Amino acid sequence: MKIAVLPGDGIGPEIVAQAVKVLWALRLNIDMTEAPIGGAGYESAGDPLPDATLKLAKEADAVLLGAVGDWKYDKLERHLRPERGLLRIRKELNLFANLRPALLYPELASASTLKSEVVSGLDIMIVRELTGDIYFGQPRGISTLENGEREGINTMRYSESEIKRIGRVAFDIAMKRNKRVCSVDKANVLETTELWRQVMIELSSEYPEVELSHMYVDNAAMQLIRAPKQFDVMVTGNIFGDILSDEASMLTGSIGMLPSASLDANNKGMYEPSHGSAPDIAGKDIANPLATILSVAMMLRYTFNDETNAVKIEHAVKAALVLGCRTADIWTEGCKKVGCSEMGDVVAKALN
Ligand code: IPM
Ligand code: MG
Repeated sequence: MKIAVLPGDGIGPEIVAQAVKVLWALRLNIDMTEAPIGGAGYESAGDPLPDATLKLAKEADAVLLGAVGDWKYDKLERHLRPERGLLRIRKELNLFANLRPALLYPELASASTLKSEVVSGLDIMIVRELTGDIYFGQPRGISTLENGEREGINTMRYSESEIKRIGRVAFDIAMKRNKRVCSVDKANVLETTELWRQVMIELSSEYPEVELSHMYVDNAAMQLIRAPKQFDVMVTGNIFGDILSDEASMLTGSIGMLPSASLDANNKGMYEPSHGSAPDIAGKDIANPLATILSVAMMLRYTFNDETNAVKIEHAVKAALVLGCRTADIWTEGCKKVGCSEMGDVVAKALN
């Protein structure tokens, strides 16, 4: 098992260290090599995705990523900013399928800002398309019009084949779950997503057992906080998926709980927490490492086909919560507040 480890910026290095700790504790035969990405890539090689990092990631079976970004890079030219490193590696590795499971651990029902009866039992899989849409569509840019005024342009576009391949991922996952797919679009306004809806309907004939429904993204945003348990699998494009997955994370108590897998057509994958680099709390040992640790479980499941150890990690996370350990973001009265590295220790210990 060859894993490229890319800690990145902000809290990235701290949370990745905990995930690596947990991986070592499993005593698997793994080969891990670290490389810089994001602001760290810019500092060391003048590029948010240095060539050596991309090469390492291409040669690895899986990539473990922390997070990228820091305000101090906001003034750099766009192509040098940390986020560009992340978007480029997703594109270069063709990681078109982003899986973001929003699962509520019962122990955290009271940590959510929503009423516990609304969220308890929550188990949603968000399938976000990751290499297309307005994130990558051309033309794009900021230009100056004839009247001297500036104009910003981005282009939302999806080809039929791009829609089909992400749709397949969603239907296949639904077959292993409760066999319901909700496709999220804005087909009442945007042609791109009108096509999205048509292709999803065509594809659904190959999956007669799966119940396909459609929802406009504004309604989906509302339904997620009104009655989130109505969803099984949600499938949507890059930008809507970015927004809805952040929203869904709060149903689980904290964005610090939401792992993710980004897969190519052969299940090679990059695994990262869904949250960002949180530079305001970096280096303070207070970040929640559980999303990153749970991302490693996803790595074992999806890339290495090792369900046994994936479940082992998920049980160890659960055990840490049952013990009452909480990082600051999920702490509630009566629980034990632990730091990032102590949480890593507790999970690693609970493995055995
Ligand atoms: C995410 C993040 C990224 C995205 C940013 C950091 C570029 O928000 O992974 O959800 O927008 O995809
Ligand atoms: Mg996001």
